[in-house]
Formats: sequence, structure tokens, C-alpha cells
Amino acid sequence: MPKTVRSAGSAHSKNYKFPESTNVRRAEVGTQAQFRKHKPRKKYRYDDSLSPVMEWDGQSHGRNEGEKLIQDTLEAKTLDEAKAAASKLKAISKPFLNWAGKAERYAFDVPTLPLFIHERLSTKAILETLKGHRFDKNQETMLDLWGDPQHSISDQVLRAYEHKDKWVNRMILGDSLVVMNSLLHYEGLGGQVQMAYIDPPYGVKFGSNFQPFVRKRDVSHNDDEDMTREPEMVQAYRDTWELGPHSYLTYLRDRLLLTRDLLAPTGSVFVQISDENMHLVRQLLDEIFGPEHFCGIITFRKTSSASGNLLSVVSDYIIWYAKDRDRVKYCQLYLRKEAGEAGGTQYTWAELPDGTRKSFGSPEKLKAGAPNGSRVFRQDNLTSQRPAQDGDVREFVFEGKRFTPGRGTFKTDLTGLQNLASAKRLIAVGNTLSYVRYIDDFPVFPISNVWEDTAISGFAAQKLYIVQTSPKVIERCMLMTTGPGDLVLDPTCGSGTTAYVAEQWGRRWITIDTSRVPLALARQRLLTATFPWYELQDDSRGPASGFVYRRKHNRKGEEVGGIVPHVTLKSVANNEPPEQEVLADRPETNSSITRVTGPFCLEATIPTPQQFEDTDTETRGTEAASSSSFVERMLEILRRSPVLRLEGNKSVTLKSVRAPAKTLSLSAEAIVPNGTEKPVAFLFGPENAAVSEKLVYEAAREAHAKSYSHLYVIGFAVQPNARMLIEKSSEIVGMAATYVQATPDLMMGDLLKNMRSSQIFSVCGLPDIEIRKLNGKPKGMRTQYQIELLGLDVFDPIEMVNYKSGGNDVPAWFLDSDYNSLCFHVNQAFFPRTGAWDNLRKALRGEYDESVWQHLSGNVSAPFEAGEHNEIAIKVIDDRGNELMVVKNLKEAK
Ligand SMILES: C[S@@+](CC[C@H](N)C(=O)[O-])C[C@H]1O[C@@H](n2cnc3c(N)ncnc32)[C@H](O)[C@@H]1O
Repeated sequence: MPKTVRSAGSAHSKNYKFPESTNVRRAEVGTQAQFRKHKPRKKYRYDDSLSPVMEWDGQSHGRNEGEKLIQDTLEAKTLDEAKAAASKLKAISKPFLNWAGKAERYAFDVPTLPLFIHERLSTKAILETLKGHRFDKNQETMLDLWGDPQHSISDQVLRAYEHKDKWVNRMILGDSLVVMNSLLHYEGLGGQVQMAYIDPPYGVKFGSNFQPFVRKRDVSHNDDEDMTREPEMVQAYRDTWELGPHSYLTYLRDRLLLTRDLLAPTGSVFVQISDENMHLVRQLLDEIFGPEHFCGIITFRKTSSASGNLLSVVSDYIIWYAKDRDRVKYCQLYLRKEAGEAGGTQYTWAELPDGTRKSFGSPEKLKAGAPNGSRVFRQDNLTSQRPAQDGDVREFVFEGKRFTPGRGTFKTDLTGLQNLASAKRLIAVGNTLSYVRYIDDFPVFPISNVWEDTAISGFAAQKLYIVQTSPKVIERCMLMTTGPGDLVLDPTCGSGTTAYVAEQWGRRWITIDTSRVPLALARQRLLTATFPWYELQDDSRGPASGFVYRRKHNRKGEEVGGIVPHVTLKSVANNEPPEQEVLADRPETNSSITRVTGPFCLEATIPTPQQFEDTDTETRGTEAASSSSFVERMLEILRRSPVLRLEGNKSVTLKSVRAPAKTLSLSAEAIVPNGTEKPVAFLFGPENAAVSEKLVYEAAREAHAKSYSHLYVIGFAVQPNARMLIEKSSEIVGMAATYVQATPDLMMGDLLKNMRSSQIFSVCGLPDIEIRKLNGKPKGMRTQYQIELLGLDVFDPIEMVNYKSGGNDVPAWFLDSDYNSLCFHVNQAFFPRTGAWDNLRKALRGEYDESVWQHLSGNVSAPFEAGEHNEIAIKVIDDRGNELMVVKNLKEAK
């Protein structure tokens, strides 16, 4: 049995808290049926004067707008009014970017959906559970570790979106447009995001941005096997790509518009893009943010080498806009100055330890030849180009020789020159008198918009996700435009680099992705990460109080702290103490603390595909039509391929598949030849989303009322609580039900070259676990339990029995050792056969027994005690990011 070495509560691992920030309360998953605060879809309008399409011989929008402005100019009562109308007219006649669908679309609307909390995650909670092998939700400290406010169900439902809770960082599954709309209109987050980092699909190839497997990074673009099969992703792909670059631009414009609404007045947006579409995206940003709010384009190196027919491409770009350039928050970043490197190429002189000064001709020769203890410097201009005025010094005698400023003037007055001379800051070379600028006068130089050092060698090997951005790139953007405690948003989460960097730098974060695969990777990355502990100005206020910076020197006397002097010619000439600069990326660290990721939650929008009450008549008509044509299509497929596949080459063939006569929620009925010949019912899950609990509940009730013998729920994806309801449907609704996975290839249609019709519907398993009661507990301790993940259980509808299939080789599985039937609290997280926990294991060496870490990379949990609910939940993440959840009572322990 694993044991801990140190006592619980040791301060060795710690995370930041945000006591001053709050979040609008969201309810937990499982309460959505009771949620009543539905909101209508939200309409967004573009600034239509930006794409006027001025066709004077037709009835275009541009013509109407143009004619109105001419009229306004003619009828203006004041000169100012006339000028305003005329300058608007001028603005709309400027060149603009047009694409198919733009001119017809002056507005778009987005469903306004609430977010529900599905999981609470906290590295600290996992570590504390492992220390004590105990999980007790009554212990306030444990709840704090998850940031769980523990509201009753009624409080969650009735007070959602009214009250506030403590801040917890957020990872959200859903389309970015829908989620951002929810943040704006359910939570009122408009104007609160300090920085948005967007790394959208580059608009080049589909495969490269939609990695289909958690553990496979190399995706080939022409291989069916490598296509994503998540329904939401296929939909996202269609939205983005139906009309190639045309729909890509629409996709981006919509999301940028909502991003702008979310940004704080001092906020910034960064859009990462490659050279193929950079010009188009820049134009788009001009339209949404206004050209006057453009702040720069950063070229960053993404790879150290690349081959190509013509010039090799080694860089990508980040386009930076401010919400308001005049108010933008900006912190200058600096790079270390080295002789011969960027910022230090002119440092060719050294002051040797004996005080003599020597020119080496080049920084390379200087580095090779200057003895230890030398002080590197450059000759700098002592004169400026300003024409001489009365009173300027026209000549200065230094070491017996007369020097004049030539056609310009000396940069300082006579006293200044004398001060420079007595501080040994002057050097005469030939007829030129120069200023001596030591490299350590200001040991750094301001960063520019070309970042050469961002292609870290060996970085590819560390990549979790195929299109992962180098953390250094996002780190710089974040340090430039945000402060500790600020809110950062990334609507293109991927493997969570923005969240990871935000976590490192004590910023609050929200990140969104429509695909489960990257979110699975991001969760693992954050849960297992370690960061330096940057000292806080005030621990009780958290990162918002700011980090501590100090001036420090190493043994060689070099400046190595977060505050450096900035000695200038002016400060020496005036005999003033030098100014100091803060290096934002070098706060003080406390090496005795291993910082881990703070609590975060996984949330999702719960779409209600069957709910049309909020939509307008036209949308309702189209949605209903497309939903009914989808059901008809599925019915036809089931008729033609009436075979349900089971594991181990077994199958069941259905008979007499047809639509039920009159139905509210069922999609089909058929006969299963299992002796009884009684009809069974089918529910087809939605085309573009996971099957929800509500759909299952309604179908099961109807199937029960109509005396079907079984309900088959066919879906492309299923929400974990819907899956649970299917498993328990016989107990809860009196109707036995089985989940049948439809191959997502059905939705791919033209996207795939070949569709394998042989495996259209398969009955897939749920985690098969064994709960063990551990014997030999020490006296006074409560009973300990342990879970083993044996594999997956698959149901055989003919024999009505379960099969076991191997399932130890999963990318991840989680344990909630006191499941409350709502949100999943992760208190053990397993990444079998990986080194995912290695960093933390090394950092906390000695604090935990080796066997604890072995558990976390295997399929047997560490021991734990029963909690208040006596129930546990296990969630398994499969290779395609699907979540399979099972709930068990501890009474079942062997
Ligand atoms: C280029 S990747 C981002 C990679 C990220 N910078 C990283 O370091 O891992 C783009 C991500 O956007 C996601 N995505 C694409 N369309 C989306 C949408 N409509 N809503 C939300 N996420 C979307 C994709 O699933 C993908 O993970």
C-alpha cells in the first residue's frame, strides 16, 4: 500500500488563488432539465458601411447608403454636419475586401445557450487525496482546492447567472461563437477580457487543424483514417470550409466581432496566422477593429529549418490590434544584451582589469581575446545633428586635445562634459571624442517585432498537439499586454498553450475548443504542469497584487534580477542616479515551492436541438426540415444496414425497420430476433451534437408507455450523463436501453473517399471496473477502497449479457471517489503508461512514495476512503476524446 512521506498540508506544492475576482454562477451538469432561464438567439450586425458594393446602376446596399450620404451632405444645416456626411462617403469609397456571401450578410444570429459545469479539476486536490488517501467533501480545505462553492441544486438552478462565486479558471467545450455569445449575454463578460489570443485554423488544410486522436500527432491530409469524426468538429469544419476561403473569412469575422465585444477598453487581440492568409486576415481585422487600432505584426520563427522549391518558410505571424490604441495596456519587454548578438553588435571594446581600454575590432574577437574581469563597452556618439545655438559648447579639451562637435552639437553642456570626463565616460579615438557606453549600463534591449528565438530546438518532440504554438510566443504577447490577475481568453484552445502560459504568469484564463481531443490534451497538460512560484506583493490578494521584482547580481557582478539600472549619457552627465527598468519576465522566485495549476473547471454548452420556441419562424422551419430529413436519412441507413456490431465479431440483425406510427420523441422501431419478437424502439441522436440526457429521458418514457421491449439510442457522440441514464434507464424509467455508436463516417459524406459500410452501428462498451475493499487497515483508520480499470463492458442484445473487451490501454481515466450525481470532481487522474506525471514526481521527490506515481500512470487507483455519497464515478477518455462514464456504489466492493 502506498504511503506518504511528509504530512498532509506541507507547503511544498501550492497554487495561486484569485480572492479578488469573481465569476458569475453557473449550474452543474445534471440540473439542465430544471434550468428555466432560457434566452433568445442574439443578432449581431456588421458595420455595413465597410462593404458597400457601390453599383450605381443596380439597387445595391452601397448605392442606397451612398445616395443617403450625398443627400445628408446637401441638406446639412452646418458645415460640421456636411463634413461628417462627406467623410463617411469618402470612407465607404475606400478599397475593401469582398468575398462570396459577404454582401448578402449584414447580420448573423447565434443561439444564446447557458454553460454547465461538467468537471472540477485541481492538481492540489489530487495531491492532497494521495497524501491522506482520504476524500471528505465536508472538509472545507478540500472544497477550496477545487474552488467548489458547493451550492444546493435549487440554489444552482435558481441563482445561476444572478449570484457570483469565487473565480475559477475555465476550459469550455463548444463552438467558440456560441460560447463567446454565452459569455457576453449570460454572464455580461463584455469589456472584461484583457487579452485574446486566437490561433485559428490557418485556412489552408483541414486535417492539420483537427487532430483526430489524442495520442497520434502525425496527421496526413489525404487519409480517411486521419479525419476527425467528432460531430461538432465536422460541423465546425463545414461552417469554416464549405466555400473555401470565403466561408473561412466569414467564420473568422464573426468570431472577431464577438472577441472585440469581450475586450476591455485597454485590451488587445493577437491573431496567429501563416503567410498564406495573413494579408486577408489583416484586412479583416482592420474592418472589425479599425485600422487606427492596429498595433503591429510580429514575425516569429516557428522552425529552425524547412525545405521548399523556392524560399523556405520558417516563420508565422501574429497580428496585433488593440480595442483602443490610445488606451492599450503595454509593457515593454527586453532581451538580454550580449556582445555580438542582436542589440550588442557594436560592442567591440573592452576595459581590461588593469584599466586600459582596447579595441578588438569585432565582438567575436573581443569574446575570444578579452581576459576575465574585463568590462565590455562601445564607442557611442557624443554629438547630435541639432544645429548649434547660442550658448552651446563649440569646443572641449580632453586629455590635452581639442575636440569640436563638427556640424552638430555636443549632447550635453560644459558641466555635463566635465562630469562625463571625470566619470571616465569619454574616449578619444583619432579626431573623434566618444561616449563610453558599457554593456552593463543597460544589460538588456527592447524587443522588436521580429522574434528569432522562438523555434526551440527539440520543441517538436515535446509537442502534444500537432499545431501547438511555442509557449514563448504567447508568453511575450501576454507579458506585453496584461498584468498578473488579468483575464485572458483563447477561443482556439488546442492543447491549451494560452491557458498554460496564463497559469504560469498568474493570469486568469478562459479557453474554448469545439473538439474533445485537444481538450483532453490540455487537461492533462495543465493537471501535470509545474511552474516557478513567483513571489507576490501580497499573498492575501493573490497575483492581482503584482509580483515582486528585485535588483540582483551574480558572482561575476552581472545584473540578473528583475530590476536593472538604465545608465544613460544624460544621467552620468547630470550626475543623477540612473533610472531603473522592470523586466516583467524576471520576477523573484521561491525555489522551495513547487507551483501547480490552480483549480479549473470543464464546462460545456448544452444544446437543445429539439427546442425551437425561441427561434424565429423562418429558422424554425429550416431547423425542423433539416432535422426531419436527417431522421429520414438515418432510418433509410438503418433499413439498409440493419446490423448492430458487437465486440468479438458478433452481430445482431434487425427486422422490419420502420418509422413509428405516432410519436413524440422516438425515431424508429424494429424487431430484434431474440425469441420474443416484440418491437424495440430507436432514438437517433442529433446530427451535430452529442445525445443529451433530456432526449434519452423523453424517449425512454415514451418507449415505456408504448410497451416496447428495449430502447436503442443511436448517436454520434453521447454526453456522459446521458450515457449514465441509458445504463440506468431500466431502474429509473422502467425501460431497458442500450447505446449504439453510429459511425461518424455517416456525417462525413463527401469528405471521405471511402466509407466502410460494414461497421455502421456498433454497441460500444462502458468502463468495466472492480472495486476492492482493502484489508489490513491500521487501527483507527476508516476502510480503504481501490479501483481497478479492467477494460470496457459491451452489451450483447441477443443474449442480453455483457462482454468484456480489453481496455487498459486508454489515454486517460479519472476517479471521483465521492460522486454527487452532478459535477465530476477529479481526485485521481491517471495517464496510463505515460510519463505525464514525471515533472511533478521529480519536483516533489521524497514527498510521495514512488508507488503513488505508479498508480497515476497505471490502471489501479491509489487507495481512498468512502465519501459522503458512498458512490464513485469513473470517467475514461478514449483515443478520439470520447468520455465514457460509469457510476458505482461502494457497496459493490469485493
Ligand atoms: C491551430 S489550433 C490551436 C492550437 C493552440 N494554439 C495550441 O498551442 O495548441 C486551432 C484549434 O481551434 C479549434 N477550433 C476550430 N474551429 C473551432 C470553433 N468553431 N470553435 C472552437 N474551436 C475551434 C480546433 O479544434 C483546434 O484545436
